[in-house]
Amino acid sequence: MDRKYKNLCSPLRIGKTVFRNRMFSAPMGGTDISNDGCIGDKSKSFYELRAKGGAAVVTVSELMVHPATDGSHAYHLDESILNSLAQATYAADAIRRHGAIPSLELSHSGQFAGTYMTDKNKQKSMNQWGPSDGVRADGVPVKALTKEMIQEIVGAYGHVAGLAKRAGFGLLMVHGGHGWLINQFLSPLFNKRDDEYGGSLENRCRFAIEVLQSVREAVGPDFPVEFRLSGDEFVEDGYHLDEGIRIAKMLEPYCDIMHVSAGTYQKTFGITHPSMFEEHGRNVYLAAEIKKHLSIPVSTIGGLNDPAQLEEIITSGKADIVYMGRALLADPFMPQKVMENRDDEIVRCLRCFTCMAERATTSTRRCTVNPLIGREFEGDEVYPAAHPRKVMVAGGGPGGLYAAYTAARRGHDVTLYEKEAKTGGILKSEQALPFKHEMYELAETYRLFCEKAGVRIVTGTTVTKELCEQEKPDALIIAVGSSPIVPNIEGKERAVIVNNYYLEKDKVTDDVVILGGGLAGCECAVHLGREGKHVHLVEMRDALAVDANIRHRPLLLKELEKTVTVHTGLRGTRITEEGVYCLNKDNEEVLIPGTSVILAVGQRSNPCDELLDGAPYVRVIGDANKVSTITNAVYDGYHAALDIQ
Ligand SMILES: Cc1cc2nc3c(=O)[nH]c(=O)nc-3n(C[C@H](O)[C@H](O)[C@H](O)COP(=O)(O)O)c2cc1C
Repeated sequence: MDRKYKNLCSPLRIGKTVFRNRMFSAPMGGTDISNDGCIGDKSKSFYELRAKGGAAVVTVSELMVHPATDGSHAYHLDESILNSLAQATYAADAIRRHGAIPSLELSHSGQFAGTYMTDKNKQKSMNQWGPSDGVRADGVPVKALTKEMIQEIVGAYGHVAGLAKRAGFGLLMVHGGHGWLINQFLSPLFNKRDDEYGGSLENRCRFAIEVLQSVREAVGPDFPVEFRLSGDEFVEDGYHLDEGIRIAKMLEPYCDIMHVSAGTYQKTFGITHPSMFEEHGRNVYLAAEIKKHLSIPVSTIGGLNDPAQLEEIITSGKADIVYMGRALLADPFMPQKVMENRDDEIVRCLRCFTCMAERATTSTRRCTVNPLIGREFEGDEVYPAAHPRKVMVAGGGPGGLYAAYTAARRGHDVTLYEKEAKTGGILKSEQALPFKHEMYELAETYRLFCEKAGVRIVTGTTVTKELCEQEKPDALIIAVGSSPIVPNIEGKERAVIVNNYYLEKDKVTDDVVILGGGLAGCECAVHLGREGKHVHLVEMRDALAVDANIRHRPLLLKELEKTVTVHTGLRGTRITEEGVYCLNKDNEEVLIPGTSVILAVGQRSNPCDELLDGAPYVRVIGDANKVSTITNAVYDGYHAALDIQ
């Protein structure tokens, strides 16, 4: 077979281990862990799906090697706990049986112990051990590890490495990046020791080398070991690429793969996990530079989701392996689709951070575009329906498209009706924002899925009671979405509605006022600011983007700071050719000047009561049910289709 992405699909041999391609699944841990620290069944199924999806390696994470001095990544391996080794073995089995190599990430969070705990108070009351005494930015005291404790931790790495090998893992990733303990030792920012573990670069690398030696001793010479390094910490007083290269060179003799990531979890979150405001692959240059100085294979990571870009990385020799995290949440079958030249079917990650936000707040796995993530254990198969039905879907937004696709996969006879000329619903408006183009493309991908699954798509047609009476469907899924709220203020007809910005760009001048500082208004403001316009953003409440998730929001606010003038606590009362007149909290009128205005004050569910008796089976989904997120619309759509009997 002539593979489109030959180099990306080519196997890689390291010692006696053959990796089936160059697409590896990155560590994504921290959820579904039992109270005694074992991997839960949900996690096992999650990892298994990644292996089924064609990744060459699936990394199970994040194993805490020394619980006595750690506490963040609550998963650990401990033979004194009855199920510990068994659950790890089942996890490794589940990956291996689909042809992938199971890898395990070994970690210690050092002075950031407790980061992933949902109980933040408990986290703060824990002992925090780091290379040096100090006080964290959040005021939590850190105690320096003694040399005896260091030796105990080094020994623990070896001990769990041996257990991991026994459990059937075929690769180990020692986490030396992202601000965790090994990184703390490598970094002049954290490491102020004056003994043989601090000071010179050689001394700062000592702990990492001892850990790698301890692991090697436990697993033997033929077992591949990978070191995860932040190529650049991107913080003042931390190390930068020049030193990253020197660190990599010093560690090279002790490992088989150098994995080059970037930054720290605590300070550069949006670089370590490149946000939608960053270039795809913005950290690849770090791997490429480091690779020039090493002879072992180098892996790269960060915001990668496009096979053409991945192929270029491998072909040009920037890296030997590409790791992906979020891209494989969005589409676990991405590697298999690449292998089969079906790259047009890849569902791209939006970098919306629903995954990381849910992990931090509820310890669950969620993905905006993949309703199955976190629910694999409940079954990821879409089985044929016992009784194929005539299904009507009203509305071609993301929820409606996903419902139609799922119903058609089950063998139902599905027609989707969209009142506008094109499917996509609210996502169509995202095409105007370059950093959200994947969100726009999502609707196109779902439409392609519908077409391939045999859904008839009828555009320019509104589903009415009469249409239902005429068509007599067995099932009706109502996905009619929501419409923008237009406040009843003087001059409102002068304004462009944010959802229509993509159609009416030419009405937006260089001095623009955006009324409404929710997610949509803020993201539009960032875009216009990036285009060089003078943007005033007006919000009634005291805070912006309160509807954004906890990971995306701080990054969005940071972007706003760069170009946008923000006014909170102001209520718009009239729009004139001078700008927007507002009332402040003291009921005084203020003018926010601008020659054009965008309204972004939220959405309201479209009415659908007349359709509720349109079929024996009726389900209202997504925004039509309750204005919410794409995540919920897609999830609703998927289940509405599965529930048709
Ligand atoms: C939900 C989620 C969980 C993660 N958990 C871990 C982890 O346990 N250990 C780790 O080293 N990195 C973790 N990461 C970081 C990823 O391994 C990766 O470095 C980062 O997401 C950037 O890659 P991406 O842009 O392909 O997602 C996690 C990322 C995500 C999205």
